[in-house]
Amino acid sequence: MDPTPRIAVLLSGRGSNMEAIARAIQAKRLNARIVAVISNRAETAGLEIARELGLPAHAMPVRGRAREEYDAALASFLREAGAEWVCLAGYMRLVSRPLLEAFPRRIVNIHPSLLPAFPGLEAQRQALEYGVRYSGCTVHLVDATLDGGPIVAQAVVPVLDADDEAELSRRILEQEHRLYPEALTMLLSGDYELQGRRIKGKKPKPDMAVKPS
Ligand code: GRF
Repeated sequence: MDPTPRIAVLLSGRGSNMEAIARAIQAKRLNARIVAVISNRAETAGLEIARELGLPAHAMPVRGRAREEYDAALASFLREAGAEWVCLAGYMRLVSRPLLEAFPRRIVNIHPSLLPAFPGLEAQRQALEYGVRYSGCTVHLVDATLDGGPIVAQAVVPVLDADDEAELSRRILEQEHRLYPEALTMLLSGDYELQGRRIKGKKPKPDMAVKPS
């Protein structure tokens, strides 16, 4: 059987992180195969991009289902599709037990702040309003908390005096597109250890690390 790791991407909108992952695979920077792109909203730009890239894309609207019921259906669909990892990319829903149990420690998310600062919605606006001088993005494993699982990788983006929400978001997004595929490269290759909350890479971590002196 083909040993290439099989991933699914869940999204709710624009889909630029999904596209960055797909392009990293095309460019052979990431060894993976996308077996499904799923949107919880009926028609999204992300699904369209996925189809243009020749990826299997599906809308799976919630249609009033309870969270656990929806996540159980999603988990069976993902298993059927052969997914081994699930990448959340602008997926605007909390993930509940049936999905977490189907993919233990194998659901990954990207968030546009340096967690644990500014979880939840509008993280870039929260960062500007708080007045931090550095923000960025975080790739983390997903657990039942909101943006609270173990951190895989982070990239730092300075907040400039002239920044507004759109400009800061744009520069953070540039880093997201670089960081997510790099973090997946580490996770999918299994070159890491999880000790408590700490993920220790066996190779240098894909962070924008300031070199320790
Ligand atoms: C990104 O900023 C991501 O960090 C957050 O939602 C946004 C999704 O953007 N979770 P896109 O759909 O990947 O373009």
